[in-house]
Amino acid sequence: MYSEKVMDHFNNPRNVGEIENASGVGTVGNAKCGDIMRMYLDIDDNGIIQDCKFKTFGCGAAVATSSMATELVKGKTVQEALLVTNKAVMEALDGLPPVKVHCSLLAEEAIHAALWDYAEKHNIKIEGLEKPVNDISEKEEDEAEDY
Ligand code: FES
Repeated sequence: MYSEKVMDHFNNPRNVGEIENASGVGTVGNAKCGDIMRMYLDIDDNGIIQDCKFKTFGCGAAVATSSMATELVKGKTVQEALLVTNKAVMEALDGLPPVKVHCSLLAEEAIHAALWDYAEKHNIKIEGLEKPVNDISEKEEDEAEDY
């Protein structure tokens, strides 16, 4: 049911933990399943993501997608990080079962929330970044229609 890549990232999640004095921190949850995700970003003066870590109280698919998402955003600019959508993460993981697609939204939204936090702290605007939601279950209905 799960690809080898999903199993690998679930069994050996990358970048689990916290970043002290992170440039941006974002926490989102899904009220329907009760899972919570927190992302930490370390962004340098040139707007490049040097490090990204996550902590989750979430299911296996949430762990695997967040692990992959942290790998994908590292080394990218904040603008490029917006292209790391849940779709991109799922492709990088060779897919997720349809019932688990919403879990990948938790990772995407937590990154957006951390970027939003960074932008607010630095008084900048990240083109294309919308104010994140705290509860992705409000959003998931519209986005799920794409699958
Ligand atoms: Fe809640 Fe996967 S079931 S994030």
